[in-house]
Amino acid sequence: MNLAIIGLQWGDEGKGKIVDLLAKDYNYIVRYQGGNNAGHTVDVDGFEFVFHLLPSGVLHPKKIGVISEGVVVNPKELLKELALLEEKGITPNLYISLGCHLIMPYHIFIDGAMEESQKIGTTMRGIGPAYIDKVGRCGIRIADLLDKKVFAEKLELNLLQKDYILKGKFKKEEIINEYLALFERIKPYLADTRYILNKAITDGEPILFEGAQGTLLDIAFGTYPYVTSSHTTVGGISVGTGIPSNKISEIMGVMKAYTTRVGEGPFPTELKEEEGERLRMKGREYGATTGRPRRCGWLDLVAARYATQVNGINSLVITKLDVLSDLPKIKVCTEYRINNKPCEFQSWISDWSKVEPVYIEFPGWMKEIDKVKEYSELPKEAKDYLAAIEEMLGVKIDLISVGPRRDQTIKRD
Ligand code: GDP
Ligand code: IMO
Ligand code: MG
Repeated sequence: MNLAIIGLQWGDEGKGKIVDLLAKDYNYIVRYQGGNNAGHTVDVDGFEFVFHLLPSGVLHPKKIGVISEGVVVNPKELLKELALLEEKGITPNLYISLGCHLIMPYHIFIDGAMEESQKIGTTMRGIGPAYIDKVGRCGIRIADLLDKKVFAEKLELNLLQKDYILKGKFKKEEIINEYLALFERIKPYLADTRYILNKAITDGEPILFEGAQGTLLDIAFGTYPYVTSSHTTVGGISVGTGIPSNKISEIMGVMKAYTTRVGEGPFPTELKEEEGERLRMKGREYGATTGRPRRCGWLDLVAARYATQVNGINSLVITKLDVLSDLPKIKVCTEYRINNKPCEFQSWISDWSKVEPVYIEFPGWMKEIDKVKEYSELPKEAKDYLAAIEEMLGVKIDLISVGPRRDQTIKRD
């Protein structure tokens, strides 16, 4: 059985916690899109680790982490992350595809330059520019480092093509030396991950696919242009791994009990000032990658319904329910209206200021639930809130998270 874990909002839904929790039942844990723009927090017995590029399941001994073709890799940052784990005595089993596109130093520079004219609020990790080169057919892949001549030629082409913006800032020889040295250090991990994963499927070995970012940041189906540059939806798995989509048996959607977003872009249910600040403080809503304060707001079930449909979600995880514990009233958006007419979530809406969220209100439960272990022990108001989500999305909730640790997870009866 192969399981996909997909964020249903604008990222940071708590995917890392859930991947770590479920990884024990899978042999391979695969990152298939995005890069080190991700920040997936895992908290095991008070040991907190934020994964950026490595799959979050690798804290379990014997599990195999895979970084497949769809991921853009910054080798320097990858080695830093591995070194941080080594310091804690953890040496993950890891395969990285030779087909991954490389994040080059100039991608990070261009990311910054592009932000000056079009403010997206990116993580400044060079993700967008690396994917631009991939689709622009001038990207450099890890395999290109096997042959210095090939790498040098491709690099030269890129520096020449981009000179209107780089203006001689990057020296070819320096990059060649740096990347060849980095290549030597990542060499032990390099492999044909497409072959390995397809063989695992034939051999009946279970695979967990770890989505990064969230559905509303998908390059095609998100709130374009305020999105990331990869396919964060379930379709990203087959194009990012070379595994046919009919081999993905279960698609689990992870959603916070409210909404957050980092960076620019539409957010119809956003709460400004005190109400937003309250969620931010209680939920410790600061970016795991950039430390930026996350914008906070009510749960948006119109967007969630869309995300559920786009991904074919067949089981749900609700995280951070504990964060709502001290609110006397909790609102949920159930409908969008433009000029008083109901409308669906659409990726092409250009003027989001016209979108009016329509809310229904729930009474809060006004007591802490972070120590609750059984579904039956949850306050009635919390159960009603969860039941309403299930009903509106037409998907059953399997897990409820009430804190960052593994043991703060409730299995739904
Ligand atoms: P990801 O990017 O989807 O993996 O999520 P992040 O790690 O960026 O952000 C989720 C944050 O919430 C992390 O700090 C987690 O430790 C924390 N977290 C996860 N689940 C819960 C939960 O149920 N309750 C609380 N209070 N915190 C949680
Ligand atoms: P995880 O995996 C939240 C956002 C950035 C910005 C936009 C584009 O931890 O959920 P990029 O650097 O990707 O070009 O930035 O996407 N973004 C995320 N927001 N969680 C993430 O990852 C994100 N990765 C990118 O803030 O708005
Ligand atoms: Mg995150």
